Amino acid sequence: MADTKIKIKNLHKAFGRKIVLSGVNLEIAKGESLVVIGGSGTGKSVLIKCIQGLITPESGSILVDNREVVGIDEEEKEKLHSKMGMLFQGGALFDSLTVWENVAFDLIENRGMGKKEAKAEAVRVLRSVGLASDVADLSPSELSGGMQKRVGLARAIASKPEIIFFDEPTTGLDPIMSDVINNLIIKSVKELGATALSITHDMTSARKIADRIAMLYKGKIVWEGTVKEMDKTDNPYVCQFINGCSDGPIKVEV
Ligand SMILES: Nc1ncnc2c1ncn2[C@@H]1O[C@H](COP(=O)(O)OP(=O)(O)OP(=O)(O)O)[C@@H](O)[C@H]1O
Ligand SMILES: [Mg+2]
Repeated sequence: MADTKIKIKNLHKAFGRKIVLSGVNLEIAKGESLVVIGGSGTGKSVLIKCIQGLITPESGSILVDNREVVGIDEEEKEKLHSKMGMLFQGGALFDSLTVWENVAFDLIENRGMGKKEAKAEAVRVLRSVGLASDVADLSPSELSGGMQKRVGLARAIASKPEIIFFDEPTTGLDPIMSDVINNLIIKSVKELGATALSITHDMTSARKIADRIAMLYKGKIVWEGTVKEMDKTDNPYVCQFINGCSDGPIKVEV
């Protein structure tokens, strides 16, 4: 790959006897938007946490900008995190802080920005995701789910990260609000020129935001390709997943 941003090689991670990742290989180009699809509990969130250096895999390699992430010390981890933004599954906003304080958290805590400047910047970023300035002083608990997602997105992009992770960005939203969030994701990623790694079960969202899609199953990437290729593939895992069939090679334990 010409300009690789993230390169994952033969990644293994288990929790006790539970094997989650068993040889993941994945490359993401600079400026690319990759979506990882896969069933609940297949290890999508674990994969993101490995790339962020929050979970240490048993073996394998993760290169970000050609630098190894596995086994890095705290100082290097901080440097790594300063390149990254994240929209968390379930929002994960701090209810004890106002909306603007959530958005400006990293700017104040890690980048030494003064409060006044950080608030102005937070209000600007909030506006870019369609939230008026009067939302800035509210508590996250006073917002609807769709508004909380927008605040989460604003927080993820506020420090202008090079890499953004979106963990289930549309979960719990109605189809129209999902589309609004998808469009905001595309716009924000483009404006920043960022590399995006998203994980979702929402195929409408995946189709919309992905340059490329990869499917995780039983600890491995079992398929990858463009949306066009996905619609033509006869890969049984992909076909079962995108058509939402209980019959097929993917067995769900009930
Ligand atoms: N810190 C942890 N300690 C022990 N087990 C964990 C830990 N984190 C994740 N797991 C296990 O790893 C597996 C994968 O979890 P993960 O959260 O990555 O799933 P997921 O693909 O993101 O699922 P979902 O789509 O439901 O969010 C699960 O079986 C989970 O219980
Ligand atoms: Mg998850």
